[in-house]
Amino acid sequence: MSRLIVVSNRVAPTQEGRPAAGGLAIGVLDALKETGGVWFGWSGEIAAEPSPPVIEKQGNVTYATVGLTKRDYDQYYRGFSNATLWPTFHYRNDLSRYDRQEYAGYLRVNASLAQQLKELVRPDDIIWVHDYHLLPFARCLRDLGVKNPIGFFLHIPFPVPEVMRTVPPHEELVKSMCSYDVVGFQTDADRQSFVDYIERGNHGTLSDENMVHAYGRFLKVAAYPIGIYPDAIAKAAEQYGDRKAVRSLRDAMRGRKLIMSVDRLDYSKGLVERFQAFERLLLNAPGWHGRVSLVQIAPPTRSDVQTYQRIRQNLEGEAGRINGRFAQLDWTPIQYLNRKYERNLLMALFRQSQVGYVTPLRDGMNLVAKEYVASQDPADPGVLVLSQFAGAAEQLPGALVVNPFDLSQMAEALERALSMPLAERQARHADMMAPLRENNLSVWRDTFLADLRHVATASSVTEKAVKRADVTA
Ligand code: G6P
Repeated sequence: MSRLIVVSNRVAPTQEGRPAAGGLAIGVLDALKETGGVWFGWSGEIAAEPSPPVIEKQGNVTYATVGLTKRDYDQYYRGFSNATLWPTFHYRNDLSRYDRQEYAGYLRVNASLAQQLKELVRPDDIIWVHDYHLLPFARCLRDLGVKNPIGFFLHIPFPVPEVMRTVPPHEELVKSMCSYDVVGFQTDADRQSFVDYIERGNHGTLSDENMVHAYGRFLKVAAYPIGIYPDAIAKAAEQYGDRKAVRSLRDAMRGRKLIMSVDRLDYSKGLVERFQAFERLLLNAPGWHGRVSLVQIAPPTRSDVQTYQRIRQNLEGEAGRINGRFAQLDWTPIQYLNRKYERNLLMALFRQSQVGYVTPLRDGMNLVAKEYVASQDPADPGVLVLSQFAGAAEQLPGALVVNPFDLSQMAEALERALSMPLAERQARHADMMAPLRENNLSVWRDTFLADLRHVATASSVTEKAVKRADVTA
């Protein structure tokens, strides 16, 4: 069996139990632990100068991590990845800015990471690259002569062509994505946006079986919605229920209902709108005063990017204003916590809450939505209020799906969720658990990797045939 090499900018912490930021690290770690393999990426550290990867083995996963210099971090991570691509891919091109030097840094870091990885690659390895930091990574590897199958999975949305074209080097980026053998997206809508870009720009064509022929390459372009392990999560949620933090929360609630949200502190998560919709609930339905609280856990991330500093200030302002307006001596409507919690503990907290409130303005998938459902007690489950703009909405039919730009609709959904009868809650929960089990994380990984193995073999045969035909023509 060939070895799996996973490449991503963020590599999950090597110690068990440490909180990991974001869905990518969680999903990839769980997926990789079963198959074993190598995980290559940034160590999260700033290094004085480039140095070879640090190799560390934990169980059957070998971590190979490298530091970034301050210049690389500023241009590649803080700059082009998180101040240009991230906002634009989340349809916030109003927050996006472009700087040529940063883009040059992005290309330079991709090339140097590829150079470092090349030293570790064996001929029969299969390489799986993740997320927007590494769109040109396969092209860099190909330039170095690496012939292994290379797949790419985008964890965030892929924007429609009109929005994609606002990124100045859009065509170079899409062209370089065509150096992969398989390009995977979270949803069919994302896949369609990519195909539309290729077709409308006359860069290539789509054939049966989702094969794209573009820029002289054949690649498979398909949706592979990332999943979770729902039964393991349910078990953790139950087992961690007697932890001190969970008990204190239960005591503090004293019969009050609890709405629970957990997100990185990111403007794409719709946190301000979420607070304002909760405020609207309190305005429209005063009967809930003193009887419901919203707990928002939002660990700060990318806090050296200006747009993240602004969202933090806004949110602090909103939480303070709403609490000032409604709080009573023994009741705080919004508990807003800027810290990370261990994942299993979060699952147990989800199980204590009556509503999971997951309303991003745009999100690739949103694993929190899936985790909330899986954490529930099937005999007395909470209700998920979910944004239609999260990839997860396609897969969670039992959620109350809302438009996060419509505060009144969100307030109504909260009220409906808080008052929903047990039988309806149980039915909705069961409707969601079935697809979560059927499309769990192994299915995501195995489907993607099976396609990658298949396509890499088939397209190398096709490309050779095309080259032969060109020579004889
Ligand atoms: C999202 C992205 C990941 C990223 C994570 C945390 O989930 O899709 O690629 O790792 O956020 O963000 P950070 O910038 O801290 O890695």
